[in-house]
Amino acid sequence: MDYNQIADKLSCILKAKRFKHSLGVSQSAAELAARFGEDVDKAKLTGLLHDCARGLSSNNLLQRAEAFFIGVNDVKLPQPVLLHAPVGAYLARNEYGISDPQMLKAIALHTTGGRDMGTLDKIIYLADCIEPSRDFPGIDKLRSLAFKDLDAAMLAAFDQSLHYVIERSLLIHPATIEGRNYLLLKQNN
Ligand SMILES: [Fe+2]
Ligand SMILES: [Fe+2]
Repeated sequence: MDYNQIADKLSCILKAKRFKHSLGVSQSAAELAARFGEDVDKAKLTGLLHDCARGLSSNNLLQRAEAFFIGVNDVKLPQPVLLHAPVGAYLARNEYGISDPQMLKAIALHTTGGRDMGTLDKIIYLADCIEPSRDFPGIDKLRSLAFKDLDAAMLAAFDQSLHYVIERSLLIHPATIEGRNYLLLKQNN
């Protein structure tokens, strides 16, 4: 499937707002890839597909996670929405014909992040935060930081994500803490 075929399919599967967000992530990912010398087409397609499992119900996500042997830990079990990232990576491979491991990994990591993320992983994570239809206090600062320094922007995005879950008394996924610790240690060495 090419970009337009995948976009057509997603426009039928996702709600209009989510589809618009996916096109925005695709656009921002392409711009970040151009800025940091990554493959623009790959980033564009990964951004388009990153939320391909976002429309699935919690039960469906849990069933698919079991079928795909995706680990469901104590954080994901009560918050199955987090599973749309790893389940999305499986769908990208099985239903959209994506075989590139970097693209699949970037989709799998886009909600929690993790340690030792590659450039495409960071681009998709950040594009998800800063795409044009996103609006939250501090977004302009995060947008400009993302185009200056991917690691600094990832740290700011992790901090923002942690504030968000703490304010709402949600569970913190350990991968987010690992990702933040990894970048802080890297920065200080
Ligand atoms: Fe997502
Ligand atoms: Fe998203």
